[in-house]
Amino acid sequence: MTVRHFLADDDLTPAEQEQVLNLAAEMKAEPFKYRPFEGPQSVAILTDKPTLRTQVSFHAGIAELGGNPMLVDGNLAQVGVRETIADVTRVLSRHVAAIAWRTGAQARIEEMAAYASVPVVNALTDDYHPCQILACLQTITEHKGHRAGLTFSYFGDGANNMANSYALGLVTAGLHVRISAPAGFHPEQAILDRARRIGEATGGTVEVIEDPQAAADGADVICTDTWVSMGQDGAEERERVFRPYSVTSDLMSHAKDDAIVMHCLPAYRGKEIAEDVLEKHAQVLFDEAENRRHAQKAILTFLAQGA
Ligand code: NVA
Repeated sequence: MTVRHFLADDDLTPAEQEQVLNLAAEMKAEPFKYRPFEGPQSVAILTDKPTLRTQVSFHAGIAELGGNPMLVDGNLAQVGVRETIADVTRVLSRHVAAIAWRTGAQARIEEMAAYASVPVVNALTDDYHPCQILACLQTITEHKGHRAGLTFSYFGDGANNMANSYALGLVTAGLHVRISAPAGFHPEQAILDRARRIGEATGGTVEVIEDPQAAADGADVICTDTWVSMGQDGAEERERVFRPYSVTSDLMSHAKDDAIVMHCLPAYRGKEIAEDVLEKHAQVLFDEAENRRHAQKAILTFLAQGA
């Protein structure tokens, strides 16, 4: 059996992504139906960066799948410092049925996948956050009834992990993605090229629009993320350049009347999102946070089945 990993959004074909999202919806309705880790087998949740949603949602979800969630503190394990990634991976592979890893460089998780004999799931790297995108798509579907063809506008740091994952993962689902970011903070051309190739099959599109009002115009979904991702510095300069991209009620007035607001959280009120906008759309935001559990259960179950 080939071991499958989920390292970036486009590791799933459009049909596979749909299969995972359907499974996530089914699991939300019937949380204890699927038991791929019955035994219980253990699943490692290894984190090198701060976490709340990731550790809680994986932990609760793995338990619902009949497994034993095993938190591994990256500060203690010191992957790549105390021990090579290859050795850590080969040790973990002898003990657990899958590994979810939150780390920095994408190359680190790719190296882990190269040595792993169990599925590896990206629980956020500097480049991607694909589990969040599955939760985002599940939430959009719940609130809009469908996903393909909707216009999704993202504001702020267009060069971070969330922007990359929105471009790849949402175009896979056939959405029209607008990344609204200042010069110097656009997604890399290679990301846009990958997303556009996927869009040829799904009908999804991605464009970069510097003018925030034009990017919000007629949008179905408005989305943002912190201006300072974990591990980044230069907060003051970032706040200066991203300020025009703040999701305020003024920006919302350009979107459709029934537009929803999304945020992967944690949120910084008065910075990337205004307090009143966040509170008005809190239901959707916290549905999205809940859906991390269902979406991650679905991807773990999909990967546990192998290819
Ligand atoms: N871009 C953010 C996402 C947090 C879930 C970060 O990497 O810190």
